[in-house]
Amino acid sequence: MEAQRSQPSPKVESAIPSPPWVLPPAGMGGPFLVLEHWHEIIIRPRIFHLIRCAALDFRPANRGPALRIRELVRLNPDHPGFHDPTYRERRNVIAGIALDYRTGDPVPRAHYTEEEHGVWRQISQLLEPLHQRFVCRPLVEQIKGFPLDREQVPQLVDLNSRLSAATGFRMEPVGGLVAARSFLEALGRGVFLSTQYIRHHSRPLYTPEPDIVHELIGHTATLAHPRIAAVSRAFGRAVELADDEQAERIERVYWYTLEFGLVEENGQARAFGAGLLSSAGELAQINEDPALLEWDLDAIAETPYDPTRMQPHLFVAPSFDRMLDDLEAWLLTEQWMGRGAGVAKTA
Ligand SMILES: [Fe+2]
Repeated sequence: MEAQRSQPSPKVESAIPSPPWVLPPAGMGGPFLVLEHWHEIIIRPRIFHLIRCAALDFRPANRGPALRIRELVRLNPDHPGFHDPTYRERRNVIAGIALDYRTGDPVPRAHYTEEEHGVWRQISQLLEPLHQRFVCRPLVEQIKGFPLDREQVPQLVDLNSRLSAATGFRMEPVGGLVAARSFLEALGRGVFLSTQYIRHHSRPLYTPEPDIVHELIGHTATLAHPRIAAVSRAFGRAVELADDEQAERIERVYWYTLEFGLVEENGQARAFGAGLLSSAGELAQINEDPALLEWDLDAIAETPYDPTRMQPHLFVAPSFDRMLDDLEAWLLTEQWMGRGAGVAKTA
């Protein structure tokens, strides 16, 4: 079986452009949005607005329909959809939703094709039994209480009404990867920045960047959990106050807990993090492949991660409650707290 990851692959360009979205010189074709890696490119609605202005092909003599969005998303040549013009067009169309989105508005529906619904159906059916076997019990119950449509790709706007009622969180669309700091800061406002496109149908168990499968199967039910939602907000508040070095430590802790955390249950490691919940390959291997390391948030904060590969080591909290208790305490007591971050207790 091929490597199954819902993590992103390396980069799109050998040299990382700065700023991360680039506009080619005049006459070189449309502006591009360069996707780099996991939560690392800033594609906030505000930035999208800038791109949108440049991406439109203005033809004053024929306004309206003549405004045409060119290529918004550029894929890496090793991306499964790189040679598929239909897929590339779909990525542009779906990125266009985020492009036009204004924060706080209802999220426009993405009109998925039957093929895209089929990819969703295939992965949903594969992951369900794996969740029963490898995910920690509180999250299995949480997922059961926050079910997703298994036949059709759910719409963010529909999930938002349920999320909002549960914890006040909402999902807002982004066209691709988001800078870690921006991603976490949005959590502090109760906003989860979510992609809407789905991975290429040729490799349904692999995606080189977070897609709607990761966002919804990995994150949605957990954002409806009062304690996880509160901790997510605390991450955002902490990173907002942190300097760059502190922010990096916070990002690492987020990565090894809410994305790839494990908790112990009956002597076995069970999945807690969204990256595991949405990755069939990594989920089935949690007690075999990665080195399981002792729970220590200060050590985690010093441990770099590589989002482009299967995780070689994961940290195991003694229990689901200890994971959340310790995260709350850590986020409250670190240095940035001197500048006012805090956990909003909701449960
Ligand atoms: Fe994630």
